[in-house]
Amino acid sequence: MIRVLVLGGGAREHALVWACRQSVLPEAVLCAPGNGGTGAQAENVGLRADDVDGIARLVSDRAIELVVLGPEAAVAAGIADRCAELGVACFGPTREAGRIESSKAFAKQLMDGAGIPTARWQAGGAGARADLLGFVRELGGAGVVKADGLAAGKGVTVCDDLEQAERALDACLRDQRFGQSGATVVVEERLVGREVTVLAFCDGENVRMLPPVCDYKRALEGERGENTGGMGAYAPPLHLDPQELLATARAQVIEPAVAALAARGTPYRGCLYAGLMLTAGGLRVLEFNARFGDPEAQVVLPLVAEDIVELMGACAVGSLPAGNVRLHGGAAVGVVLASAGYPGPVTTGHVISGLDHREHHHGHVFHGGTERAADGTVRTAGGRVVTVVGRGDDVAEARRRAYGRAADITFAGVTSRGDIGVP
Ligand code: AMP
Ligand code: GLY
Repeated sequence: MIRVLVLGGGAREHALVWACRQSVLPEAVLCAPGNGGTGAQAENVGLRADDVDGIARLVSDRAIELVVLGPEAAVAAGIADRCAELGVACFGPTREAGRIESSKAFAKQLMDGAGIPTARWQAGGAGARADLLGFVRELGGAGVVKADGLAAGKGVTVCDDLEQAERALDACLRDQRFGQSGATVVVEERLVGREVTVLAFCDGENVRMLPPVCDYKRALEGERGENTGGMGAYAPPLHLDPQELLATARAQVIEPAVAALAARGTPYRGCLYAGLMLTAGGLRVLEFNARFGDPEAQVVLPLVAEDIVELMGACAVGSLPAGNVRLHGGAAVGVVLASAGYPGPVTTGHVISGLDHREHHHGHVFHGGTERAADGTVRTAGGRVVTVVGRGDDVAEARRRAYGRAADITFAGVTSRGDIGVP
């Protein structure tokens, strides 16, 4: 029996708490800061996920034996490094291994060194503006401009022409729109193809692949509108053979990345996320994340037939059996219900109804930006409010169940995309 602490407060963390609760191993599950949903299945503690000193005290005071990092902020803050000092198992990479997400230039160098297929690129700061523009010109204007550091999914501009690329460069380098995160910029070749995400449990050496998943990053149907953290996801992907993709992604991407980080003396322990573009010339890595995706976690975790706490513990201590994660059959579709205005500013505090509607047996309602008010109501507290997940024998059935359940849940200004999991 162990005591588990999940860090973060989104629907991804609610799904992680739920998954921990499916295991017989935890004697207690805590979540910091958690949300209105995690509070029903775990003990919420009012600490930020990146409050290193506060978390370290909590770990000692409550004799926590496994810390699970949800968001990138917890990775970048160095929670895993502190856990290592305290001798406590941590599922999630050290700050240095986490640079695979927190610096896109670092990730590109690592990929080139390890022979991992990715778009051609060039990086630099304000002094390299002319060179970077020259590279975009070489690409015929079809370049992608990326702030090097963490930018909450907003630091990427996919450009059609030189003028657009120039504006994106200036936003980072001159106007400092992303602060220090945009002081260095990566410019890369614009790729064409279908996007898919692969996730893997990693223990520093061995990897165990989760099912591939498709997410929907734009705010509006038909992939229009602003980039968001993610408006929905489904697994397994239609239009491709999941087993074949997993084998290729394992051999070409995940194993070489994990080996390269180990060779640098910074082994990667946790969930490694690779966003892929399937181009006519084969797969290419668009980005790595040093954590589960949100909303990818909400659809992938319910499909896992193994004990998640055991898997995460094995990653933390380096005893993960290689292979693919054993899955329940079938599919899962997750639809995000967001506040009006998301990904821009939103109003909060609206009562959410329909959450406690009959227990539906073919899915889950994972809370994101919610909180339980003193009067017992659950209210909105952020942009992405809940992820409604449907499960079924196939994507079509899972989709019907997700949207069927989502229709019961309302709050002022609720918005969602209607095309999640549509072939
Ligand atoms: P990233 O945060 O690096 O994954 O980029 C966010 C989104 O921008 C991706 O999901 C893609 O839709 C798009 N993107 C990133 N890099 C490229 C690229 N090299 N070519 C085309 N689209 C890209
Ligand atoms: N859904 C994409 C991410 O979590 O970064």
